Amino acid sequence: MAQRVRKAVLPVAGLGTRFLPATKVIPKEMIPVVDKPVVQYAVEEARAAGIEEFIFVSAEGKEAIAAHFSAQEVLEKSLEAKNKTAELKLVRDASLAPGNMQLVIQGEPLGLGHAVWCAKELVGREPFAVILPDDMVLARTSCMKQLIDAHAKVGGHVVAVEDVPRDQTSRYGILDVASDDGKLASARGLVEKPQPEKAPSTLAIIGRYVLDPSVFDELDKHTRGAGNEIQLTDALNKTIARTPFHGLRFEGKRYDCGTRVGFVEANVAFALANPDLAPRLKPLLARLMG
Ligand code: UTP
Repeated sequence: MAQRVRKAVLPVAGLGTRFLPATKVIPKEMIPVVDKPVVQYAVEEARAAGIEEFIFVSAEGKEAIAAHFSAQEVLEKSLEAKNKTAELKLVRDASLAPGNMQLVIQGEPLGLGHAVWCAKELVGREPFAVILPDDMVLARTSCMKQLIDAHAKVGGHVVAVEDVPRDQTSRYGILDVASDDGKLASARGLVEKPQPEKAPSTLAIIGRYVLDPSVFDELDKHTRGAGNEIQLTDALNKTIARTPFHGLRFEGKRYDCGTRVGFVEANVAFALANPDLAPRLKPLLARLMG
């Protein structure tokens, strides 16, 4: 039985250049999908999976993210005075207890592997989750819970995967599959952003991971990879001989909020999944399409 997963690392230090000028001052992760900042969906998904401690790997200028998850006394007092209980609940539900939130500053955006490495001391030697808020998953069961349940059975590294069109392999970490039961695929290797003709499969890693701490032994070496960045996929690949690696085809639909089209799609999908909004939105969308 694998050790329980209690901590999640949320890398939120990226520059968000694809969303300029929106991200000139506002962190990309604070832009709302429907009515909540993107990063809050990630925190809620992790909480639903039993995660207790959140480690944000952030950057200077992105202080709004930690502020969003902290108590806001002035706002809470004024909502209280006005008897706005529903609104007060929304504000409080978005807070993390001070002891459950840690912040580390990445300093320089040297890549996702480097961002995860920055959390090494706070994670310690235990399995941990990594969530990239940009990838939003609409699912009946929290995608992270699905990973943690699989991890409890197989241990090692367990990541969320999905089949992508072959012409898109150069955007993802891709599995070199050793065996596959249709739900869980075991990998003998990983390749970061391979060209379609070189990709060992079309099974791509999306932004959800449960990782064995052995990954830190490789990240310690600070080896640069694709785009001259320190790649998480490369570090995981180097541990595969000693740490089992599985990709889970999760139940649910992923939206890539790192792109403009994916962001708009996520807004529509999450609004349609909201019973308050869907009945009003459907005729409106039909009219726009007409
Ligand atoms: P992206 O590749 O989407 O980069 O990072 P980005 O900077 O956020 O966005 P663009 O491409 O400039 O528009 C994937 C995830 O890894 C984090 C990002 O915050 C995002 O959650 N990341 C990436 C870091 O925390 N540090 C890094 O050095 C790189």
